[in-house]
Amino acid sequence: MKQKKITIIGGSGGMGKVFGRYFKGHGFDVTIYARNKERLKDVANEMGVNYESSLERSVKHADIVMVTIPIISTPEIIKRIGPYLKENALIFDITSLKKEVFEALKDLKNAFPVNCISLHPMFGPGIKDMKNYVILVLKIGGTDKYDIIINDLLDIFRSDGLIITETLPDIHDKRVALTLGVPHMLNILFLKLLNNANEPLNELTKYSGTTFLLQKVFAESIIQREMEMFGEIQMENQQFLIILEKFEKLVNKYRKIIENKDIKGFSEIFSQGLDYSKEDNHFKNSYKYFYEFLKILKGK
Ligand SMILES: NC(=O)c1ccc[n+]([C@@H]2O[C@H](COP(=O)([O-])OP(=O)(O)OC[C@H]3O[C@@H](n4cnc5c(N)ncnc54)[C@H](OP(=O)(O)O)[C@@H]3O)[C@@H](O)[C@H]2O)c1
Repeated sequence: MKQKKITIIGGSGGMGKVFGRYFKGHGFDVTIYARNKERLKDVANEMGVNYESSLERSVKHADIVMVTIPIISTPEIIKRIGPYLKENALIFDITSLKKEVFEALKDLKNAFPVNCISLHPMFGPGIKDMKNYVILVLKIGGTDKYDIIINDLLDIFRSDGLIITETLPDIHDKRVALTLGVPHMLNILFLKLLNNANEPLNELTKYSGTTFLLQKVFAESIIQREMEMFGEIQMENQQFLIILEKFEKLVNKYRKIIENKDIKGFSEIFSQGLDYSKEDNHFKNSYKYFYEFLKILKGK
């Protein structure tokens, strides 16, 4: 069978490298494109793939074009590449928000004879093995070969044990506001709150209980990651503002409960959280998992 050509726009970035290696490992002829030529060349050499410094030339012969650049730049790039795409090419992005990108891909497939799908891998560049990780999929449409072409790609992911979950833009953005935006925010604020107390973290750690230790490591792993993307995930999602409003009200309510030593109010919030999480798959063993994670930190 003819080797398929894939071009990765943003191929020198964190996720671009993950998928560049992935597709190379699956026998694709991989070409990467990005604006910074030096870095592009270095990454291509390091990964043993091709690079192309002209956007137009990079996509012209590609059977598949993957776009993995910051969320706000993605719709514009999708628009720009339209006229250069091969007939029946498959185009997909992996942005963490879908509202605008979904519309851009819809316009693309309406204007050109290409196939569009939008993916969201629910993992970051630190991944080693994709088995049992989730990829969210938004089907957009394209030519009469659409189903065959997208399934060729999705079957590769399925064969590696990735869990494919189909979704729609509004549902996607509402849910990731909660599953990405909220935990990111809480961890960013956790470190800021400690920082505001003017206590060096190393000193605080000497007073660390089990919960603090785990929470601290978790927050530290987040604060070292992609600030630009974390900002976009919160700032570009209208749904996140709605959550922030609810959060503000909740913090005010919490403050009153604490100020008034309102044990009834406290127990209400506590038991509502308990009821909400009870049905979750991890619930039963979560305290056990907690000590498993601690074993790693304590070097046991
Ligand atoms: N990181 C994650 O955990 C994660 C997880 C799931 C999904 N995603 C999504 O994956 C995408 C990429 O994230 P990332 O973390 O890999 O970002 P990244 O490490 O910052 O990489 C971005 C890449 O895009 C290129 N680029 C930036 N702006 C561009 C533009 N206007 N035109 C062409 N190339 C451009 C960059 O190179 P130049 O600056 O040299 O052009 C670089 O190669 C984002 O949409 C993000 O939402 C990320």
